Amino acid sequence: MRSLPSRAFVFCAVLTGSFAAAAQQMPGDPAAGKKKTTSCQTCHGRNGMAVLPEAPNLAGQPEIYLAKALKDYRSGKRENEMMSVMAQALSDQDIADLAAWYSSLEIQLKPKP
Ligand code: HEC
Repeated sequence: MRSLPSRAFVFCAVLTGSFAAAAQQMPGDPAAGKKKTTSCQTCHGRNGMAVLPEAPNLAGQPEIYLAKALKDYRSGKRENEMMSVMAQALSDQDIADLAAWYSSLEIQLKPKP
């Protein structure tokens, strides 16, 4: 049990490192991102609320998470027959802009009636 704190420290250090790396990404422009969603809307809806049963909602998701997901599809680290194709066409700036746009949308939750 003595080794647990040091392992926790290493884990935190690794996390901090990856947040620092993510923070160095180019800033995304939400307005530019909105204009780039034309090809996404068929599945993810006009405002990032999915219309295809298999597609996830994108509205309000964290920017870092969205950008990572898109980069992972593009690199092949994450695979999906639809998204792997979609992500190939995206530049780093496209990804930053799209992530900024979808994360800028506010979602409201309410309990089921
Ligand atoms: C043909 C339908 C389709 C289109 C068009 C499409 N997507 Fe997707 N998208 C999906 C599906 C299905 C998934 C879930 C894939 C999986 O299980 O990994 C997904 C997953 C994602 C995810 C991961 C979300 C998460 O919570 O893990 C992101 C981000 C994303 N799409 C962004 C986009 C963007 C940006 C565009 C437009 C450039 C786009 N998608 C176009 C169907 C689509």
